[in-house]
Amino acid sequence: MTRVISVVSGKGGVGKTTVSANLSVALSQQGEDVLIIDGNFSGANVAQHFGIGFQDVSLNNVLNGEAYITQAVSKHPAGVSVLPASILEFNANAESLKHSIVDFLGQKDYVLIDAAAGTDDEVQAAIEASDEVLLVSHPELPALTNCLGAKKLAEQLDREVLGLVVNGVRGEKSEVDREDIEDLVETDIIGAVPDHKHVREGIALRKPVVDYKPDSRASHAIKDVAHRVRGVEPPKRGIKGKLRSRIEELSPF
Ligand SMILES: Nc1ncnc2c1ncn2[C@@H]1O[C@H](COP(=O)(O)OP(=O)(O)O)[C@@H](O)[C@H]1O
Ligand SMILES: [Mg+2]
Repeated sequence: MTRVISVVSGKGGVGKTTVSANLSVALSQQGEDVLIIDGNFSGANVAQHFGIGFQDVSLNNVLNGEAYITQAVSKHPAGVSVLPASILEFNANAESLKHSIVDFLGQKDYVLIDAAAGTDDEVQAAIEASDEVLLVSHPELPALTNCLGAKKLAEQLDREVLGLVVNGVRGEKSEVDREDIEDLVETDIIGAVPDHKHVREGIALRKPVVDYKPDSRASHAIKDVAHRVRGVEPPKRGIKGKLRSRIEELSPF
């Protein structure tokens, strides 16, 4: 059974694409066959996170019978299949998104859809094309209230909410604490990803951080989310794991 999961947040810039790209690689590292689809037509950048260039197959070619959707997919060295938004951009609606997924149902273990910000048609299309919704937010009030809006939309559309990934955690006093976040968004937190330069470096190098620095704290946090999404308890890393993280984080390269 293929699980189709959309990643939504309400607010932009909180790390949806970063979390989606890394979650797709983490799931793949855990043995799952994963396709990531860029469902953010107005601000597409999944392909950039993977260093994938322009694709010359469009969904129109597919609809006209000139190509198979599978021809539009690039396989990233980290094992993830990537469907860039350029393929779908003229058909940014739920039907085209669903169409792009159909050929993969039963073939992939997971299809992740990186949604746009807000709660408009584009986001609705991503949620409608999926069965489950993963929420992403910064630990700040404006992001959390927008995230609650996105969660309500998912519920209106009768989709299961998997949980919330709090991204960009700095441990500052201004951040809303864990319990209050769960009360506000009425969802369990299934991961807390620190704000860390390795994440930005990974983006610059077109290599998601779980691949670029697998032992970085940010990578551990995302791998733990992947375990929880799969319904598996994340590994206990103990002192050795923490030391490895520390060494990786202190390394200048
Ligand atoms: N955990 C993190 N640590 C450091 N920087 C991050 C992290 N997550 C995201 N960023 C930064 O925030 C930017 C916006 O993230 P992005 O994933 O594009 O957000 P969204 O898809 O929600 O608009 C990234 O380009 C990166 O620079
Ligand atoms: Mg994005």
